[in-house]
Amino acid sequence: MTHFASSHLAATELVALFKDELQLCQVKEGERVVLHSDSGTRGAYGAAFMGAAMALGADVFQIVHPSAPEKAVVEVWKRADLVIDLSSGVHAYGDIIKEALLAGTRILRVASPEHVLRRLLPSEEMRKRVEAGAKIMKAGKKLRITSAHGTDLTLHKEDRDALGLYSIADSPGRWDIWPSGMVCCAPIEDKGEGVLVIGPGDMMLVLQLYVREPVHMEIRDGCITSIKGGLEADLLNEWFRKFNDPNAYRLAHVGWGCERRADWLKPGQDNECYYGNMQIAFGANVGVFVQGRTRSRAHHDFPCRYHSYCVDDKQVMEQGEFVVDELRYKGD
Ligand SMILES: [Fe+2]
Repeated sequence: MTHFASSHLAATELVALFKDELQLCQVKEGERVVLHSDSGTRGAYGAAFMGAAMALGADVFQIVHPSAPEKAVVEVWKRADLVIDLSSGVHAYGDIIKEALLAGTRILRVASPEHVLRRLLPSEEMRKRVEAGAKIMKAGKKLRITSAHGTDLTLHKEDRDALGLYSIADSPGRWDIWPSGMVCCAPIEDKGEGVLVIGPGDMMLVLQLYVREPVHMEIRDGCITSIKGGLEADLLNEWFRKFNDPNAYRLAHVGWGCERRADWLKPGQDNECYYGNMQIAFGANVGVFVQGRTRSRAHHDFPCRYHSYCVDDKQVMEQGEFVVDELRYKGD
């Protein structure tokens, strides 16, 4: 359950925290900062970011939108230097994000509870590991992912970019989410084959369910062609079916987690960025991944542990443990 602060005074304790974050995002005097919110946004977040941006001399204003923003505000996003995306729904995949990023806008998504933001503050040490990982992934053409539970996937990245997320949107056209700590990419959507096994204890993020009985998915030409297993597989089949959209089953993104402070037992961003995880997602990927091609209302992330990972012939992970020195956490 989401807990919202009941008093507007909650903002007072957030101003200093958000000012630090805006400084990391390189907000300078006179820059245009847009706070994008909707009817479900935590009110204290908008107020505190506004105070923090004002303290830095930025030209800041807040948009409150009733539902999906899209066309009505895309021009505002494109003309902003930095958008703080405070919307309450899933908001990483859509043309508004793609267009704004291509226009050079920096976008930072902030939607986690305050205690999660404080626990997973941006870290320079993690940033280095994320950037080292993104460099390896960017150079790769093919990804091979395996696990003791039976995952054996070959995905084709070819010349697509890699995205390194470290909770800071500090350069033009950069999207990030606080908290994060991930290296990922959008593989070629109509290629990729093999078997994905979501093992016991792995997470079906949209359903907020830890799997008990393994879920076996067959992937052909970049699409899930079958989902088999027990109760979780049945629920997942039901979730996919309700979209009535072939694109729901299509590969969206794949990567690994880098945040060693993330707690696997806290469902949400903690699973997404968990140190040494393998995350894979299906459905929409236009937006954050500007080279992505899939539009859909569906998007489902599966953070999984104990996987092995190869980028071309270079092994980066063995059963959830990084085997490349520069990707491994060695202390702050
Ligand atoms: Fe995702």
